[in-house]
Amino acid sequence: MIVLLPENVSIIEVGPRDGLQNEANQVPTEAKIQFIQLLKGAGFNEMELTSFVSPKWVPQMKDATEITDSCLDDTRNFVLAPNRKGVERVRLTDVSAIAVFAGVSNSFNQKNSNRKTDELLSELLPLVQELKNEGYFIRACISTAFYCPYEGKMDIEDTIRVCKKFVEAGADELSVADTIGMATPEEASALFTRLTKEFSSTLLTAHFHDTRGMALANIYACLQVGISRFDTSAGGLGGCPFAKGATGNVATESVVYMLERMGISTGINLAEVMKAVDLIEPHLSRSITTPFRSLYLKEKESLPNKT
Ligand code: HMG
Ligand code: MG
Repeated sequence: MIVLLPENVSIIEVGPRDGLQNEANQVPTEAKIQFIQLLKGAGFNEMELTSFVSPKWVPQMKDATEITDSCLDDTRNFVLAPNRKGVERVRLTDVSAIAVFAGVSNSFNQKNSNRKTDELLSELLPLVQELKNEGYFIRACISTAFYCPYEGKMDIEDTIRVCKKFVEAGADELSVADTIGMATPEEASALFTRLTKEFSSTLLTAHFHDTRGMALANIYACLQVGISRFDTSAGGLGGCPFAKGATGNVATESVVYMLERMGISTGINLAEVMKAVDLIEPHLSRSITTPFRSLYLKEKESLPNKT
């Protein structure tokens, strides 16, 4: 069987949001803004900038308004909003793309949003409808789509049920997540095949955390079933503070390197991504050791400016 891979892939950079939300050091707002600006210089047309969540729950994101005031431009800039209060804060800005989030499992939602799944959905779905009517682009982030750190393997039908509710409410995009990096390529292929059948008019994005080093293999599996949108995080930063064992997102530099070497265009300048990684690292509580970064530090001068 001949499998046709896409010629172009969209990379949604989530480093400024997912990447930093789990960081122990409070990163100065100015450093976040420079990080975002350097990433924008690398060519991303879509990026998650920040979250309008409760600063009591995630203090790192308390500067969300300052970030959006400084970083909005004519590309698609997402911000996360967990509830009506978050949405009200977003309405005071010029943001036009909102990401809402819900997990498939009750236990994760209880820890992440202080609500069980159905209770959370009954708050979020009317909000999505309202925001659609106001003209916002809506991204629905579906956590624990494969595994929950508290309940184990999810039933694919439960994942489809949650996705369907957001699509029916008007979501433009589903970003479907392996929150704790447990999915295998076979599981990624099965879920995304099903999603493409169920939601043929919705943008489908895969969001892999690389906890067990399987994210690139999962991305390859998704490419084979027609997925051409991936969330990635510069430097492989990231993780959800309320999902036990969730570590970094798949590194942008690894994904861009792999895709460009495969002849799949991303529009992203790798050397510019690495400048952003260099900028943010001194502000973090840990060093960035993705394979590509380590090579870059050793052999900087031999890397192409643009892959
Ligand atoms: P709650 O405690 O039930 O909320 O938390 P509440 O309504 O009772 O409010 C508690 C306090 O927070 C109140 O303040 C509210 O005003 C305030 P007080 O009266 O005590 O002074 N508050 C807010 N302040 C600012 N902005 C808001 C807001 N909401 C309430 N939006 C809540 C419920 C949803 C707020 C909380 O659980 C929360 O903020 N959770 C966010 C968790 C989070 O950010 N998780 C990470 C993002 S999701 C993710 O990373 C997964 C993803 O990457 C995909 C994947 O990998 O799986 C997307
Ligand atoms: Mg995530």
